[in-house]
Amino acid sequence: MFKVTFKNTGMAVDVENGAELKTVTKDNQWPVAYGCEDGMCGTCMVKVVEGGANLSPMDEKEKGTLEAMGMDTGTYRLCCQCRVNGDCTIEQ
Ligand code: FES
Repeated sequence: MFKVTFKNTGMAVDVENGAELKTVTKDNQWPVAYGCEDGMCGTCMVKVVEGGANLSPMDEKEKGTLEAMGMDTGTYRLCCQCRVNGDCTIEQ
């Protein structure tokens, strides 16, 4: 089990290895908005405050969307594209 923390509220939850970050935010009613849910629109972007290396690697689609938005691909991720492989903290 790994801990995912939503910095905005301080809420932390335990999740299984490989859990979809999208599912974590939805199941816990964290206020992350979703649009395409396919890595294209950028609506679900969050800042990864801690544990960025504990999220699944970024694929070219996610990277392209973040770059098109002018966002730092080392700091921001798209919730709909990430799986949790260790403790992490996100904020919006
Ligand atoms: S909901 Fe569109 S990129 Fe995640």
